[in-house]
Amino acid sequence: MNVRPWRNFYGRRKGKGLRPTQQRHLAEILPRLRLPGVALDENPDRKTIDPVALAHGARAVWLEIGFGGGEHLHAMAKAHPDVRFLGCEPFVNGVAMLLGKIATDDPGNVRIHPGDVRDLVEVLATGTLGRVYLLYPDPWPKARHHKRRFASSGTLAELARVMAPGAELRLATDIPDYAEHAVAAAAEAGCFEPVVTGAPAWHAAWPGWPGTRYETKALREGRVPHYLVWRRR
Ligand SMILES: C[S@@+](CC[C@H](N)C(=O)[O-])C[C@H]1O[C@@H](n2cnc3c(N)ncnc32)[C@H](O)[C@@H]1O
Repeated sequence: MNVRPWRNFYGRRKGKGLRPTQQRHLAEILPRLRLPGVALDENPDRKTIDPVALAHGARAVWLEIGFGGGEHLHAMAKAHPDVRFLGCEPFVNGVAMLLGKIATDDPGNVRIHPGDVRDLVEVLATGTLGRVYLLYPDPWPKARHHKRRFASSGTLAELARVMAPGAELRLATDIPDYAEHAVAAAAEAGCFEPVVTGAPAWHAAWPGWPGTRYETKALREGRVPHYLVWRRR
């Protein structure tokens, strides 16, 4: 994993040991699906990557940030074969879980950046993403850690740059305070128009929603999902 020395990252990059099959998937499948030109050593001059040009005729390019075990990404890629999906996940065990799904059932339209999405956004061409999913971002519940939350006005503004006008940003969270925090951050970013950002509408799952692993756990523990949507102006 190629780490930017100037960027704080508070999540996990590695968990428990990988099984031999997972190690094989990382060695054999990931190089084929990895987005080229994001790693610093591959692209030291930070040349722009146009994901639409790389997607060879897909009708749109959608990004999922922090795909965890890849349940949503894999299901959506299968449900939308005409869309190219970019998935970012710095946690190598999560990447290995997605690769396990692809090894048995490859939808053929997934590309992966196994790292921090901010490194990808930095090099993506302006206005190229048709939709962005941010599903159950790390909650950082303590007030002194709120500045670590992904949904900050600065990060959302950077994301907005690479989104096409009219593209949707979809965010799911089980933390009511995170939902409020994201609404304020998106308003401050100044480039998003709210589509669904208040109760009761934000408790309705999006059509075709396959769920995520984190959501299953949250539901089991009695927490309530919020599904927020903004449109890029
Ligand atoms: C709470 S988990 C949710 C995982 C998955 N979306 C789900 O719902 O099951 C948050 C995920 O975001 C990832 N993450 C955190 N910071 C990230 C970043 N800067 N870029 C990409 N992914 C990130 C974490 O590694 C973790 O897998």
